[in-house]
Amino acid sequence: MTQPDDTRAGLTGEAGCRAAGKRVAVVGATGAVGRVMLELLNERAFPADEIVLFASARSAGAQIDGRTVQLLDDNADLSGFHIALFSAGAGTSREWAHRFVAAGAVVIDNSSAFRHDPSVPLVVSEVNPHALQHHRGLIANPNCSTMQLMVALAPIHRAVGIERLIVSTYQSVSGTGRKAIDELDAQAGADLRGEAMPDPVLYPDHIAFNVIGAAGNFAEGDDHTDEERKLMFETRKILEDESIAIAVTCVRVPVRVGHSEAVNVQTQEPVTADRVRELLGDAPGIILEHVPSPLRAAGRDEVFVGRIRRDESHPRAFSMWVVSDNLRKGAATNAVQIAELLVADRAGSPVS
Ligand SMILES: NC(=O)c1ccc[n+]([C@@H]2O[C@H](COP(=O)([O-])OP(=O)(O)OC[C@H]3O[C@@H](n4cnc5c(N)ncnc54)[C@H](OP(=O)(O)O)[C@@H]3O)[C@@H](O)[C@H]2O)c1
Repeated sequence: MTQPDDTRAGLTGEAGCRAAGKRVAVVGATGAVGRVMLELLNERAFPADEIVLFASARSAGAQIDGRTVQLLDDNADLSGFHIALFSAGAGTSREWAHRFVAAGAVVIDNSSAFRHDPSVPLVVSEVNPHALQHHRGLIANPNCSTMQLMVALAPIHRAVGIERLIVSTYQSVSGTGRKAIDELDAQAGADLRGEAMPDPVLYPDHIAFNVIGAAGNFAEGDDHTDEERKLMFETRKILEDESIAIAVTCVRVPVRVGHSEAVNVQTQEPVTADRVRELLGDAPGIILEHVPSPLRAAGRDEVFVGRIRRDESHPRAFSMWVVSDNLRKGAATNAVQIAELLVADRAGSPVS
């Protein structure tokens, strides 16, 4: 069903030469991630001759940036795309990603549909671009909370090894999508006007002026949420280290954009807080600050790391606070960076 690997973007010298003249599909273009994807393709001057936007019947025909959103259905023309950026949920990816691949595109998928597949590389552009070498037309983007964590942890993992992680996330509502931002705004607006808040729809409790101690959903019989399971699985796959012990709690907070994480890292070899600062200060995609915040990280592509301090309860542990824009580096920026690597045929070298 799929084409041989070497006909695809980013695997041959010939593909590298085709940098100009790419046709790019953005599937889920009207969503929280899809809209940022489009902004980034423009902002980073991605070498695309044509960008085609797809969504469901709910918004087909809408205009975004002078382009008409196309309906993704059996009549859609999938031919001639070099790259397809998917952010339309796992169900849509399962139904459509292979069809784009069969028509010749490389699909970079933001959903959880293919992350567990051992034949699908799960890539953070600064961390494991080498994994792209083995793609067969499908590449998975990690979950947003895993993404920012990987950027901050990879330099530590490389230098001194990681034995155990204890992570607590403070995840913004945009991580749930466009409708969740509206839900937060509607509840907060009503409360500030002295009215009763509308009932929660997307979350099990009100999110305005509240904290929900379980981000994600519980699978039958599991006491961890799917967000927590994603972070555990994806961390080990990306760092290529099954030995890392991970304890994680994912929490939803009433922030529009930007996920924050309190991270305790137990290393294999001893490391000082100063050495951690040095390692992260030299790493691509990281900005060190004293106390980063999601409001200030929103709209930025970097991962902000602060509060780096020794864990006085353990001789080989330190703590840090990691913040990033979940719609940008947590999703769209990384997808576009992967596309840039493929187009430039630089799949083996880190992006800055
Ligand atoms: N939000 C984040 O921070 C984040 C981070 C990493 C990964 N992701 C993943 O990215 C994906 C999208 O997330 P989001 O937050 O952008 O969600 P969203 O705001 O709800 O947007 C969903 C998008 O998918 C489109 N869509 C839904 N069903 C479709 C179908 N059957 N055919 C074609 N298009 C369809 C929607 O189009 P309509 O306008 O027609 O409904 C919309 O454009 C999800 O898989 C999510 O897990 C999100």
